[in-house]
Amino acid sequence: MTSRREIRTSRKLSGVSYSLRGPLAAQAESRRAAGQDVLALNLGDPAAYGLPPAREVVRAVRDHLDDSCGYSGAAGLPEARDAVARHYRGKGLHTVRQCDVYLGNGVSELAPLSLHALLNPRDEVLVPAPDYPMWTASIVMAGGQPVHYQCDEASDWYPDPGDVARRVTDRTRAIVVINPNNPTGSVWPYEVLNGIADVARTHGLVLLADEIYADFLAELPTAPIDWMTPNSPHKSANCRDVYWAPWSEWKIAPSRPPRVASAMRRASVTSPVRM
Ligand SMILES: Cc1ncc(COP(=O)(O)O)c(C=O)c1O
Repeated sequence: MTSRREIRTSRKLSGVSYSLRGPLAAQAESRRAAGQDVLALNLGDPAAYGLPPAREVVRAVRDHLDDSCGYSGAAGLPEARDAVARHYRGKGLHTVRQCDVYLGNGVSELAPLSLHALLNPRDEVLVPAPDYPMWTASIVMAGGQPVHYQCDEASDWYPDPGDVARRVTDRTRAIVVINPNNPTGSVWPYEVLNGIADVARTHGLVLLADEIYADFLAELPTAPIDWMTPNSPHKSANCRDVYWAPWSEWKIAPSRPPRVASAMRRASVTSPVRM
């Protein structure tokens, strides 16, 4: 006997909208197919805009393909984790060690992984709006509740830390910072970043710093990762009570303070084995 039972999508996806892959993308595609010139402002794909990866990176990947058939640890290749830790130590984050670094296939994999480790049902995460929708979708899929704070066009698309603070409740667990920002393109100044870090510090929240575009600027005037280090020129900020994770193809969970380390180590339970 053959069952005719309908195969439905999961209910947990009903609250998830992802405009980059949803109706908007479909409409752009059909207009393109009809010969219309559609300017894509939705995806930050460097390769599509003439910004290829560094030749050394391409060469290193090509040269090591033959050694790359086996699994590595779930947190990534030790040599690569070490290189990331060194990179950040060079930026002044003196306490970052290889064991603090987890590698993955991009932010879109690592963000959900960490949110699963962090969030209980209905826990809230503050997210900038307009939104890069991956964060909102990932929070919903991890059982959490996105709460958007506004980036105001009339203020160069900067958010107001006071507005961020007013949205904190006893269910808030984390604040997402996207700097340089997608989709607005704005680079938030020190006062704004420091104000948001203060909110995180005051309420004991995790600061999730998505700095995926940081290296595209010749000079990034301010980034949480820079100004929260003890050696930062901005002495008023320090990282003692704030837990953070800069995101690009990696995330960093500093082993000190220990509270974030345990959450992030739990995250590796859900991490796939890496090639
Ligand atoms: C702000 C931001 N975060 C994350 C991502 C996704 O990054 P990945 O390709 O590493 O998954 C993008 C891609 O456009 C982005 O703009």
